[in-house]
Amino acid sequence: MEHRNGACWLDVEGKPIQAHGGMITRFGDTWYWYGENKDAENCTRDGAPLSRVDVIGVSCYTSPDLLHWTHQGVVLSAVTDSPVHPLHPSRVLERPKVFYNAHTGKYVMWFHADSPDYTFAQAGCAVADSPAGPFRFLRTVAPNRRDCRDMTLYHDPVSGHEFLVHSGDWNKTLYFSELTEDGLGFTGRCFAQMINQEREAPALCYHNGLHYCVTSGCTGWAPNSALYATAQEVCMDMKLIDNPCEGPGYRQTFGGQSTWVLQAENRYWLMLDHWKPLDLRHSGYSLLPMDFEGERLTVRWQETFAGL
Ligand code: GAL
Repeated sequence: MEHRNGACWLDVEGKPIQAHGGMITRFGDTWYWYGENKDAENCTRDGAPLSRVDVIGVSCYTSPDLLHWTHQGVVLSAVTDSPVHPLHPSRVLERPKVFYNAHTGKYVMWFHADSPDYTFAQAGCAVADSPAGPFRFLRTVAPNRRDCRDMTLYHDPVSGHEFLVHSGDWNKTLYFSELTEDGLGFTGRCFAQMINQEREAPALCYHNGLHYCVTSGCTGWAPNSALYATAQEVCMDMKLIDNPCEGPGYRQTFGGQSTWVLQAENRYWLMLDHWKPLDLRHSGYSLLPMDFEGERLTVRWQETFAGL
C-alpha cells in the first residue's frame, strides 16, 4: 500500500480524502488527520467556476499506519442557519489544526476564519472532549488585535508553550502569538518573525536545538518557492536560509504548498497540498521526508509515500 505524492489520496472506502490545509498528529496509538472538507463542486459565477467551494467543515480521518485512513466524519460543521455566522457556508474556513491541552484534558482546534473576500481575517477556535469530536465552536478572534490569515499551531518544546503562528499585517509578517494555558486565548506575548517577507503556509518543527519554519510565498493557490527559516528560540529573530526542496519542480515546491510537519518515529515529513483551484475537492497531497545535515534542511521529491 502506498499513496502517490501530488495526487488525491483515497481513504479505505476508495473516496478522495477531504482534509486539505491539514495536519497529521498522534493521539494514543492512532494517527489523526484533520483538514478542510472541500467535497463539493467549486462555486460558479455566470457558469464559470470560481476558485472556492462553500464551507462544509473540518474532516477527521484516523489511521493505524499513516496509509489506511478511515473517515470519522465532519467534526466541526458549517452552520447554515445564519448568514453572519463565521461558519456559514458562504464564508472561509481554512487550515484547521488541533492539539491536546493537558491542563484541561480537551482537544483544541484553531483555524483561519474569513469572509469570502478575505478581509475578516480572524482565528477561529473550537473545543472537543475527544479527538474525533464533535468540536464545539467557541468564537473567532483577532489575535492580539492583529489579522490572521494562513496559520498553524506550534508546540515550542523549549518553553512548553503553544503558539498560533499566523500571517498578519496583510500577510507581510508572520506572528507567533502565545496561547493561554487552556489553549483558548492569547497571553499577549507575541513575536513578529520574517518582517515584511510576505510568507504564508507555515509548517514548523524542532530539530537538534533549532526551530525550523517552512513557508511559501503569497501567490494564492499557485505554487511558488518554499523557504525555510531557523532560530534557536521562537522569541529570537528567525533567519531565512534557503529553499529546502531538491528535485524536479523544486522552484515551485513540486507543485505543492506547505501545511504541516508530521513527526513520526523520529523522522520528519513535510506535508504539502497540491491545489487544483478550479476543482478544489480533487486537490492532492504529499508527504516528503525532511533530511537534516548539520543545520541544513533538504526536502527531496519522492513519487510515493509508503508509510514509515
Ligand atoms: C493561499 C492560502 C490558502 C488559501 C488560498 C486562497 O495563499 O495558502 O490557504 O487561502 O490562498 O486563495
